[in-house]
Amino acid sequence: MSLEVYENEFVSILGPNGSGKSTLLKCIVGICRPWSGKVRIFEREVSTIPKRELNRIIGYLPQETSPPPSLMTVYEYILLGRIHYLSGKLTVSEEDHRAVIEVVNLLGLREHVKRYMSELSGGEKQLVYLAQALVKRPRVFILDEPLNHLDIRNQFRVLRVLRELRTKLSITVIIVLHDINQAARYSDRIIIMSEGKVVCEGEPSEVVVPHILERIYGVRFRVVYDDGIPQVIPSE
Ligand SMILES: Nc1ncnc2c1ncn2[C@@H]1O[C@H](COP(=O)(O)OP(=O)(O)OP(=O)(O)O)[C@@H](O)[C@H]1O
Ligand SMILES: [Mg+2]
Repeated sequence: MSLEVYENEFVSILGPNGSGKSTLLKCIVGICRPWSGKVRIFEREVSTIPKRELNRIIGYLPQETSPPPSLMTVYEYILLGRIHYLSGKLTVSEEDHRAVIEVVNLLGLREHVKRYMSELSGGEKQLVYLAQALVKRPRVFILDEPLNHLDIRNQFRVLRVLRELRTKLSITVIIVLHDINQAARYSDRIIIMSEGKVVCEGEPSEVVVPHILERIYGVRFRVVYDDGIPQVIPSE
């Protein structure tokens, strides 16, 4: 595949299960190496960027995270996201604390900061994982199904926070979603993958089209426009 994402863009990646979305993200963040071809970020080849530096540039939230240490508080767990800013010794600066408080407020986690990770619900944990990725203040966010386990209000909250960060801090967002309607509402561009390839890309109105989606997903779609945004009603 050949794919270019521009600085400050909000790009959603959609596609059926097993189509290669997570694998693509893993190649971008340097966890997987492509068999052929190259991945470049800000003109530099990912495999040549030192891991520490790459970790500062990219905030990555994998689809599956390993269980967090149960005796760590929410605050401590989010703070760990700042580890790439600690130079040599393990001291926490005022700025680190401020950064944690900022994301805690952004994601509505204030009442949970002193709780242990093991005490959180599935959705609360998901928000904390996201907070850890955000606290790093990377230039590029790469998020693999970050809305899993979240209720509808928190889904919107996360998407709104990402869009605000993009606007205020010129961050680039590459996000894997399964919800076509949310992708249409929040993205500058949607990329659809199928069987390991990019099969379609464009602005939401160019991609969220019944015959394209039907071909890819094998179900029927009706598209209605809400406030100029295409929204789908799928049926079998
Ligand atoms: N570690 C692995 N070794 C071998 N094959 C793998 C590995 N990880 C994924 N695959 C296969 O590669 C293909 C793409 O997987 P990938 O996880 O990228 O899909 P995806 O689009 O993220 O799917 P989903 O929507 O279910 O998360 C699948 O067929 C999967 O079975
Ligand atoms: Mg996946």
